[in-house]
Amino acid sequence: MAPAIQAENLVKTFGDVRALDGVSLDVPEGTVLGLLGPNGAGKTTTVRVLTTLLRPDSGRAVVAGVDVLKHPNKVRSLIGLSGQYAAVDEYLTGFENLTMVGELYQMSNRAAKARALELLEWFNLTEAKDRTAKTYSGGMRRRLDLAAALVVRPPVMFLDEPTTGLDPRNRLALWEVIETLVEQGTTLLLTTQYLEEADRLAHDIAVVDHGRVIARGTADQLKAQIGGERIEVVVHERGLIGDAVAALSGYALNEPTVEKNTRRITVPVSGGARVLADAIRELDARGIEMDDIGLRRPTLDDVFLTLTGRVAEEQQEEDGAAPGARGRGKGKDKDKGGAGGTDGPGPDRQAVAAGKES
Ligand SMILES: Nc1ncnc2c1ncn2[C@@H]1O[C@H](COP(=O)(O)OP(=O)(O)OP(=O)(O)O)[C@@H](O)[C@H]1O
Ligand SMILES: [Mg+2]
Repeated sequence: MAPAIQAENLVKTFGDVRALDGVSLDVPEGTVLGLLGPNGAGKTTTVRVLTTLLRPDSGRAVVAGVDVLKHPNKVRSLIGLSGQYAAVDEYLTGFENLTMVGELYQMSNRAAKARALELLEWFNLTEAKDRTAKTYSGGMRRRLDLAAALVVRPPVMFLDEPTTGLDPRNRLALWEVIETLVEQGTTLLLTTQYLEEADRLAHDIAVVDHGRVIARGTADQLKAQIGGERIEVVVHERGLIGDAVAALSGYALNEPTVEKNTRRITVPVSGGARVLADAIRELDARGIEMDDIGLRRPTLDDVFLTLTGRVAEEQQEEDGAAPGARGRGKGKDKDKGGAGGTDGPGPDRQAVAAGKES
């Protein structure tokens, strides 16, 4: 099938920053591509080029069969976009905002109102539909902005971090909306810092770093590509971390990852249960007390770490307060109820080997 979105060798520089350094990607019709990458990797810049908001220095892009550089207006009529900027009118109610968008796109007043009500329901905004948008909370505004992008059911959609700032319930609700759209044939390019979101929604994932696509495949392919399994150990106290890393280094395919706060060490291995048994014996022999140890398959977090050398870090809200944290997003480990969590200012989990430190 012809790709609904195609980019070839996009280059964009801002002064001496090479934001895009030859981005190429394609998204087959009716599929979802998840664009992952650390802060500053070039995700938003890619989206802005593909949605006609920014002209690249060089390269080519085609969306829904139309050349983005030659016919930007035509492209605009075929796409939906929701980004970090909200296209919401503060002084109109949620209902009026969505109705207005429908009418701008030549829907009849009746059809626009019906569509507005349907979207308000989807996004849990029915109760707030008659309040002006300026009274909405951040998450409500975000949902209204997303709803506005969906009014006309465009064949191709771009969502730049759609669930940033949404609470878990609304995030789940949005995932369902997205899945429905895709079932109905919409092609979607989605950027996200939530690897779980990419895992669930994206057919295909492109990992971007320094303005280039550095890996491409399904979540399973990327996990297989980085290979092996992971031994995860939680040692009883922080002082044991160094000894445990030394004890496990003989089994490691790659440098172990250490989360100091949770005392968790993750070691890429191959060989399955036998290696786990050996590792347990080794730790026991050295008298290293463990709270937990287990074997698991690689996650997208491991893919991200292995490919970019950076951890997808928790909580974008903390961005300003955490200048040391380059990646952001939701580490799945945080969901496992590990004690402590991250209260330090920087990344608490880092690759041990030299050169991988943030
Ligand atoms: N208008 C601009 N002027 C100057 N530099 C820019 C501009 N837009 C982007 N950049 C730079 O280009 C690079 C890529 O930025 P981009 O916004 O595409 O990253 P991103 O992958 O979306 O990051 P994030 O995860 O933080 O949203 C960064 O170094 C950024 O500072
Ligand atoms: Mg961005």
